[in-house]
Amino acid sequence: MGTITTTELQKHAAADFLPLQGTDYVEFYVGNAKQAAHFYKTAFGFQSLAYAGPETGVKDKVSYVIRQHKLTFVLTTPLRGNNSIADHVYKHGDGVKVLALKVDDAAYAWEQTTQRGGKSYMQPDVLKDDNGEVVLSGIHTYGDTVHLFVERKNYNGVFMPGFKEWKSHYNPVSTGLQYVDHCVGNVGWNQMNPWVKFYEEVMGFKNILSFDDKDISTEYSALMSKVMSNGNGYVKFPINEPAEGKKKSQVEEYLDFYNGEGVQHVAIATNNIIDTVTDLQNRGVEFLKVPGSYYETVLDRVGKIDEDLAPLSQLGILIDRDEEGYLLQIFSKPLQDRPTLFFEIIQRKGAKSFGKGNFKALFEALEREQDARGNL
Ligand code: FE2
Repeated sequence: MGTITTTELQKHAAADFLPLQGTDYVEFYVGNAKQAAHFYKTAFGFQSLAYAGPETGVKDKVSYVIRQHKLTFVLTTPLRGNNSIADHVYKHGDGVKVLALKVDDAAYAWEQTTQRGGKSYMQPDVLKDDNGEVVLSGIHTYGDTVHLFVERKNYNGVFMPGFKEWKSHYNPVSTGLQYVDHCVGNVGWNQMNPWVKFYEEVMGFKNILSFDDKDISTEYSALMSKVMSNGNGYVKFPINEPAEGKKKSQVEEYLDFYNGEGVQHVAIATNNIIDTVTDLQNRGVEFLKVPGSYYETVLDRVGKIDEDLAPLSQLGILIDRDEEGYLLQIFSKPLQDRPTLFFEIIQRKGAKSFGKGNFKALFEALEREQDARGNL
């Protein structure tokens, strides 16, 4: 396992040909956007922001935009069959289609990435309305997933042209979710390194951490992972591939049910994980649980922490430490019927890593669920 230092990251940022200001939004293609929007508002504390559909001149799809602090989700569903959105939902079930990245110049981002071998998904397109303009462009990444580059410096509307403000009388209070910490992709057998190369060459990312199958294996199954980060560290994309084990890797189960490569989890930051997870559990969100014995030894491993252990243990929140600090994290069960996409809730207290010390306990918990589905 290798790490690169903050100074190296800063040096790298100076030569960044794809400066990113962070995640702009995450777009999900879903079977029923109206119900999905209600679910994410109710269960996770998002507020209504914008809407596009027949009433705004869009004929073939409906999109609801919801927001919580710096976290923006777009939930899109097809209105008819025989189109790319309907095909996506049929093939993958509900899942992430777009990881949209905020840039200062979307045309430049498209030129730089396509010149370096990125496959174009959308040529730079200027969308205008009374509130200004948004420039969009995009490239393909793993599976049917795409990256859009969003330039909105000349726009002051609620979301982007084509959308109207969505005012709702129903706006459940926030659960404290703040922003996207990282988004993990599951790719096929032996595909991790080709996608690492893609993020290095096409998008100028750096491999900041690597985990091999010895780091991430249980008695039964294994996976390998490399964490890719952009120059300023605002955007982090770990890439997983399955590894050989006695039984089926959790990544393989994902690939089977998603019908290919795609986003495995979106990790969302909070400033108070105990309050956030208490609230989420009260609203019906289900999380993976590790055995109670985890908490008997965890402080020997991670040392002193600010929080009381009792609420962490009661909620099932995991703890890990690296050279720079510690982190608290918990993983939801899948968000739809297929065992594919889930969320991680994370609070960083200095640590910049991803919870390596929890992998074994966590993956054993995951395998119990996988086994219950008959897929281990
Ligand atoms: Fe994660």
